[in-house]
Amino acid sequence: MRRQAFRVVILAACIAMPAAARPSSAAPEDPVLDRAKAAAQVFSGQLRARLQAAMQAGGPIAAVDVCNMEAPRIADAVMAEYGVSLGRVALPGRNRNPAQAADDWKLAMLESFRQRVSDGEAAADQFAVMRERLPDGVALRMMRGIATEPGCLACHGSDIAPQIRTAIIARYPDDHATGFAVGDLRGALWVQVPATPATVDAP
Ligand code: HEC
Repeated sequence: MRRQAFRVVILAACIAMPAAARPSSAAPEDPVLDRAKAAAQVFSGQLRARLQAAMQAGGPIAAVDVCNMEAPRIADAVMAEYGVSLGRVALPGRNRNPAQAADDWKLAMLESFRQRVSDGEAAADQFAVMRERLPDGVALRMMRGIATEPGCLACHGSDIAPQIRTAIIARYPDDHATGFAVGDLRGALWVQVPATPATVDAP
């Protein structure tokens, strides 16, 4: 039973967005937004696939390694393929990887998500697109809230198994990403699309 529960945990591990492809009420023709959404979805999907494989091959501690090593590599590959920047950020002061502390526009959007969640909206429903007042060279910014799910608690909750805690602390000595409860806003997945397509399409 416990083993089963862990499998669910790992499938969900590190995933920054709830299974992507939520239908959008946006304009019918919106290639830039579509590209941002597609990149986010591919990132999420590939991370899930890697985690599943790591879990089968090496168990839960291997899944921590996947988050640690593979997540940035997957992000790099997706960014190159789609010609966008993307990543995940944590709520202020609640990051595991110091490079994933939210700042600037990501922090501003995350703060508005946090406000809406504290007003009663669901963390997983948070979504924002910014098209105006962007710096030169940026066409669009998009962000999607990341909710804490039951499966996240093994690595982000309040009661973390000692071996997992040890594995996390070994890689993130200054970890602040624990103590979350189900439904809490954990952070966000962000995508930024440049004004000039930077896609390096392999024919
Ligand atoms: C097997 C342990 C594990 C599980 C389970 C797990 N995570 Fe993580 N999470 C990590 C590790 C390790 C990192 C740091 C990865 C990195 O360096 O990019 C991380 C980073 C993150 C980040 C990036 C921000 C930060 O603090 O660095 C978010 C957001 C996140 N996790 C959300 C989730 C969510 C949501 C779930 C459940 C759906 C989940 N995680 C489940 C281990 C886990």
